[in-house]
Amino acid sequence: MSISYNIGILGATGAVGEELLTVLAERDFPVKSLRLFASERSAGTSLSWQDQQIKVEDIEKADLNGIQLAFFSAGGEASKRYAGRFLEVGAVIIDNTSAFRMEAAVPLVVPEVNPEALEQHRGLIANPNCSTIQLMAPLKALHQVAGLKRVVASTYQSSSGAGRKGMDELRDQVIKVLRFEDPNTKVFPRRLAFDVIPQIGSFEDSGDTNEEEKMINESRKILSLPELKVSTTCVRVPTFIGHCVSLNVELEQGFTMDEINQALEHAEGVLLCTDNEWPSTVDVVGQDDVWVGRLRRDRSVDNGVNLWVAADNLRKGAATNAIQIAECLIQKDLVQVKLS
Ligand SMILES: NC(=O)c1ccc[n+]([C@@H]2O[C@H](COP(=O)([O-])OP(=O)(O)OC[C@H]3O[C@@H](n4cnc5c(N)ncnc54)[C@H](OP(=O)(O)O)[C@@H]3O)[C@@H](O)[C@H]2O)c1
Repeated sequence: MSISYNIGILGATGAVGEELLTVLAERDFPVKSLRLFASERSAGTSLSWQDQQIKVEDIEKADLNGIQLAFFSAGGEASKRYAGRFLEVGAVIIDNTSAFRMEAAVPLVVPEVNPEALEQHRGLIANPNCSTIQLMAPLKALHQVAGLKRVVASTYQSSSGAGRKGMDELRDQVIKVLRFEDPNTKVFPRRLAFDVIPQIGSFEDSGDTNEEEKMINESRKILSLPELKVSTTCVRVPTFIGHCVSLNVELEQGFTMDEINQALEHAEGVLLCTDNEWPSTVDVVGQDDVWVGRLRRDRSVDNGVNLWVAADNLRKGAATNAIQIAECLIQKDLVQVKLS
C-alpha cells in the first residue's frame, strides 16, 4: 500500500496557495488529509479541492497535531512566527517565503538542480525566489558545458509576483486609466498600468533592491558557486502571470552553439524553443517547464551567450517547485525531522 500524508497549507487563500491546491490535485500527490490555514481575515471561508469543501482555519487558533508536511506561503513574517509550531508537531515545512532561504542549515532547492541538498534538512526547506528558480536549470546546463563566469539577469516580472493584491491593483489601474481617472497606487511604488517599474522590493545600501540581492545570493547557494559573479536588474511589468528574464552569460571556456543547444535540450525541466521561436508569458501560464528562447552567441565577449527565459511564477516559480521538493522528499524517504 502506498503511503499518503497529512498536509497543511499556510496561506491557502493567496495566489500561491491557490496554485498549490491545483498542483497537488493535478500531480495526484499522496494526500491523506488536507488542512488549510490563513489569518483570521479569511478563517471560516471554504475552498474547494477535488470533491471536498475545506474550511480555512485561523492559524492562531489551530491545533496542528498530525500534520506531516506543510507548505508555507503567507509571507516571511508569518513563516517566522509559525514555523516553530509546525516543527514541534514533527511536520516538515517547505517555505515559499524568503524568511529562511539564506540560513546555512536550510536547504534551498530546485529539484532538477540540487536535490542532494535535501539530505541535510532538519525540518525546514526553502523554496527559492520565483525569478531565481526559473534560471537555475538553464544556468546549470550552461555551467556543465563550459563553466559559469558571469551572469547578468534582467527580469520582466508580472504583477502576480506581488500576490493577489498585485493583480487586483493592476486590473483596477488599467480600468481607471482607460476611463481617464486617477488610479490608486498601494502595492507598487508607482502606477504599473501602461508602464514598467525598475524597482521590486526596497533599496539596499548597495543600490540593489532586496529582490535583486535575493537573486544574486540564492543563485550562488543553489549552484554551490559562492563566488559566482551575478548582476541583476528586476523590473515589474504590467502583465498578470509569468515572469521573463533576459539572461546574458559569460562562460569560462570556449563552446560551440551546438553544445549549448544540446545541453539545454536535454536539461530536465527546460523546454527549448528553436527556429527563432520564443516564449512569452502567454505561452508559459499553466506550464511547469521553464521555456528558453532567443538563444544566441553574445559576440561582444569571448565566450558569451544570450537567452530569454520564461516561466509561470506561481507554478514553477512557487507551487510546482515546492511540490516537486515534497515529491523528492518522499522518494528519498525524508518526510521526517532528523533530531540529531
Ligand atoms: N506570487 C509569487 O509569484 C510568489 C512566488 C514565490 C514566492 N512567493 C512568496 O509566497 C508568499 C505568498 O505569496 P502570494 O503571492 O500567494 O501572496 P498573497 O496572494 O498576498 O497571499 C497571502 C496569503 O497569506 C495569508 N496571510 C497573510 N498574512 C498572514 C498571517 N499573518 N497569518 C496567516 N496567514 C497570513 C493570506 O491569508 P488571508 O486570506 O487571511 O489574508 C493569504 O492566504 C510570499 O512570501 C511571497 O513572497 C510568491
